[in-house]
Amino acid sequence: MQIPASLLPAFAESFGGRPRLFRAPGRVNLIGEHTDYTGGLVMPAAIDFSTWVAAGRREDRTIRARGANLLIQGEVPVGSGLSSSAAIEVATALALLKNSDLFLEPIQLALLCQRAENDFVGMPCGIMDQFISCFGREDHALMLDCRSLTYRAVRLPAEASLVICNTMVRHELASTEYHRRREDCEAAARIIGPLRDLTLETLERRAPDLPEPVRKRCRHAVTENVRVLQAAASLEESDIKAFGRYMDESHRSLRDDYEVSCRELDILTELAGRLPGVYGSRMTGGGFGGCTISLVESSHVEDFVNQVASGYATETGLTPDVYVCRAQGGAREVSLLERAVI
Ligand code: GLA
Repeated sequence: MQIPASLLPAFAESFGGRPRLFRAPGRVNLIGEHTDYTGGLVMPAAIDFSTWVAAGRREDRTIRARGANLLIQGEVPVGSGLSSSAAIEVATALALLKNSDLFLEPIQLALLCQRAENDFVGMPCGIMDQFISCFGREDHALMLDCRSLTYRAVRLPAEASLVICNTMVRHELASTEYHRRREDCEAAARIIGPLRDLTLETLERRAPDLPEPVRKRCRHAVTENVRVLQAAASLEESDIKAFGRYMDESHRSLRDDYEVSCRELDILTELAGRLPGVYGSRMTGGGFGGCTISLVESSHVEDFVNQVASGYATETGLTPDVYVCRAQGGAREVSLLERAVI
């Protein structure tokens, strides 16, 4: 990871002086989608795209957030479902805190940034994105329990790469449908109790009490939580193939039961599924566009990138951006001495 070359000169030009630097990463979610806001399980990793904030103190306190000069530079592709907004919230909050010699526990920082997203942006997101931006760990995904906010780091296999394919579309209905899914889950919880406590057996027994599509939404939430547990266990047992199968199942559940996929995401996962060296593939993030994540044996990555890009272009006329990522550490201050590659 490298400090963006233009950041310091741009800061000097705008404000003068030498700033302190902060960065917070975007994320990719490996499995556990649309479960955070019902207190379920998720398994994201921080990625090597960050939002950078260069911050300097001001003495006059007249303007700009608590007497600070901030220059913000984002690398996380906006609107792609890789949490550019969580990265900007976390990097900015961290910069403002440190700039004012204030300290917050990282969990409080994550919760505060989630509140910014909920109350200011008006997006009723769960805690996943802000949490992983704060707590990410190099070469690991985190299995996070969104109810207790406890987590365990799960090492990612060295022989496989995280490949993110961007559909280059984001459908208009993403935000309204996100609200609707939350409402469906809340409606279900009023009838049969918290989804996190629901087993598949109970759900099947109580199914007649639930209207469609609420029943299907619940089935996704319940089966997805089970898949996250199984997926984490399979990685810990070095069974990457099993992990990949859970990714594929997760995509089908999001497509058929939760209904948050779209044609472009399905095309990308289907193309990926036909290629050699691919363990698994699924949509990642809120859905209705954005990105897929595939776990690909490293020696096959180059072929994978070429084939997916040309297959997707043939079917949609669009050229997808493809990012080969490594899991990164969470938000932190970056020393100016780290000008070299770190
Ligand atoms: C968005 C939200 C997250 C989460 C995902 C779906 O990224 O910000 O809180 O709900 O969608 O898993």
